[in-house]
Amino acid sequence: MAEIPVDLARFDRVPLGNWPTPLEDCPRLSKALGGPRILVKRDDVNGLGVGGNKLRKLEFLLGAALADGADTIVTFGGVQTNHGRQTAAACARLGLRCELVLTRQVTRLPGSRSLTAPRDGEAYERSGNVALDLLFGARVHVCDDGAHAEATYQRIVEELSSAGRKVVPLPIGGSDGVGVLGYLAAAIELRDQLAKVAKTNRIVCAIGSAGTAAGLALGTALLDWPVIVDAASVSNTVPECSADIERLVSDAAALLGVRAPRLDHVRVTDRALGDGYGLPTPVVWDAIRLFGRTEGITLDPVYTGKAAAALIDAVRTGDIPATETVVFVHTGGLPGLFGYAPELIEEAQG
Ligand SMILES: Cc1ncc(COP(=O)(O)O)c(C=O)c1O
Repeated sequence: MAEIPVDLARFDRVPLGNWPTPLEDCPRLSKALGGPRILVKRDDVNGLGVGGNKLRKLEFLLGAALADGADTIVTFGGVQTNHGRQTAAACARLGLRCELVLTRQVTRLPGSRSLTAPRDGEAYERSGNVALDLLFGARVHVCDDGAHAEATYQRIVEELSSAGRKVVPLPIGGSDGVGVLGYLAAAIELRDQLAKVAKTNRIVCAIGSAGTAAGLALGTALLDWPVIVDAASVSNTVPECSADIERLVSDAAALLGVRAPRLDHVRVTDRALGDGYGLPTPVVWDAIRLFGRTEGITLDPVYTGKAAAALIDAVRTGDIPATETVVFVHTGGLPGLFGYAPELIEEAQG
């Protein structure tokens, strides 16, 4: 096995998750799909704050923030952001103040080109992630649009800085060069686990702010691991996603002091995107039911449900051959399922 030519140990990092996360064979799911062997990498059950992919990024992001003297973290997202919830939990554990600037309506979030979908209703606004944010002690600021969120962020920084606090902002989805290191570490972990299990052709994940896919892309390239990284968009167009991956890979490579690798092994698809972020289509609910009924695995309608729908469609159309071994990276998101409670109870019975 190739050794990775970088030293992650020189980056500040705080322990937040339980590693390695389980890698589970899913024979009933594989059989239902009539083909590829599917393994699920359970980053949804990595511990803190109900778990999810952000913990890997936050280990590095909060490590850097603490080294910078931070006592307050501000971050952004939609009302049902999983990133915000995991940041809130991590801040609770580390004794940091957490301010979440959440945006309610269709808008471009600060620092992002991604559109959020209009959602409202009791479940979406008062259950799931947003309820857990409060439970973990975060201060939640729900804004109507991007301009409101930007103004709220500025006000928080001014107020808290003049009160003598050291405020550090984290990017949407925890995706910047530092956050990418979390999924670079995940690629190494996964490669080591698979060495004892199976030769793998493909890694499938959801792509939103792109840090997860970028980390896997960079990690697999630096490891010289001949595997396809297949990212299913949940919000942006394919060219936007590809550009985000390239930018993040290049930022992380610069931090690591290595040349950014070629990304010929990375694929992006929008086959399950539907009408946009946060809008599940019938095939997404089908995927959620299939994983639930064959393996007892819960997906969510915003991220993992879409990635699974893309995987299922690719298998059914023959784009993923039945002979392949595929790792589906389960990036979490369970609380978001309850934000969709009225639809969920209907769809769960479908
Ligand atoms: C459950 C879940 N899966 C996948 C993603 C996408 O990860 P990334 O933003 O790194 O592309 C997110 C991002 O918010 C998420 O919450």
